[in-house]
Amino acid sequence: MGVNVRGRSFLTLLDYTPGEINYLLDLATEFKRMKQNGVEHKWLTDKQVVLLFEKTSTRTRCAFEVGARDLGMGVTFLDPGSSQMGKKESLADTAKVLGRMFDGIEYRGFKQSVVEDLARYSGVPVWNGLTDDFHPTQMLADIMTAREEFGDLRGRKLTFFGDARNNVANSLMVVSAKLGMHFCACGPKELMPKAELVEKCQAVAAETGAVLEFTDDVHEGAKDCDILYTDIWVSMGEPAELWAQRIKLLLPYQVNKELMAEAKPTAIFLHCLPSFHDRETTVGEDIYQQFGLPAMEVTDDVFLGKQARQFEEAENRMHTIKAVMYATLK
Ligand code: CP
Ligand code: NVA
Repeated sequence: MGVNVRGRSFLTLLDYTPGEINYLLDLATEFKRMKQNGVEHKWLTDKQVVLLFEKTSTRTRCAFEVGARDLGMGVTFLDPGSSQMGKKESLADTAKVLGRMFDGIEYRGFKQSVVEDLARYSGVPVWNGLTDDFHPTQMLADIMTAREEFGDLRGRKLTFFGDARNNVANSLMVVSAKLGMHFCACGPKELMPKAELVEKCQAVAAETGAVLEFTDDVHEGAKDCDILYTDIWVSMGEPAELWAQRIKLLLPYQVNKELMAEAKPTAIFLHCLPSFHDRETTVGEDIYQQFGLPAMEVTDDVFLGKQARQFEEAENRMHTIKAVMYATLK
């Protein structure tokens, strides 16, 4: 039977089967081919979507906006500063109103329960554009990029270095489990994924043949690794006061030339972005002034090196997000 996710929300990949994930990836590949060949695909001209952002964004917002326009849809962007959401109107009321006007809702914010409630009250597909717990649209782009490099990913080792209990790391563990990959969370013991999520992923892994590994040994993390992945050390919504503590904990897990050399020679580097790999941002410069670090989670030699694929990955956000919107709205 063919895969059909029409009418579904996209809140966490825990809700999607490996077959459904692969279907979305295949669709994204098709959309990428069409875009590259200038083949128009305005297939949803009767639809309207709204994008709710309670945290800042470049890639996710632009991927949804461009993706929606390529499909011929109307797009409305709302942030807390320009809507009643949260201040004068409850989430449930907001969701009920938006569900009557729009065919789909994207949400980026804090609690995972908010995106779940939006889906419950709006009655239309809701897409998680990042919460404190998960970043599922990012995963499709990451896996698409890795597939473009390696083809079938079963058994491939993806190591996440750093804050291994953040939204991106959690989601990488989920998608790796779903797709039968070897996921390694490599970071300090204090920053490992929650036991409850690990248990859920272990249950998935038992069915797919995935391997889940947890280590604080950076050499173990790099050994036989195909995909080295990292993310910023302090995520959106976390206090800036955490920087000093995180730098101390996470500097040993920085992805640098020496670490890349310990992985397979064919390995690639991925990063969801944005990244602090130089002093060309206000935060990056501030950290340099305070702690003397010219780069944080990844050094410039890796970021600008031959194995880096983070900009292909960023482009793939658009193709994959388009696939999610199309598949759930068509
Ligand atoms: N990777 C990602 O979600 O980027 P933005 O925060 O710019 O959307
Ligand atoms: N962990 C990061 C991901 C940004 C795309 C954050 O939540 O800020």
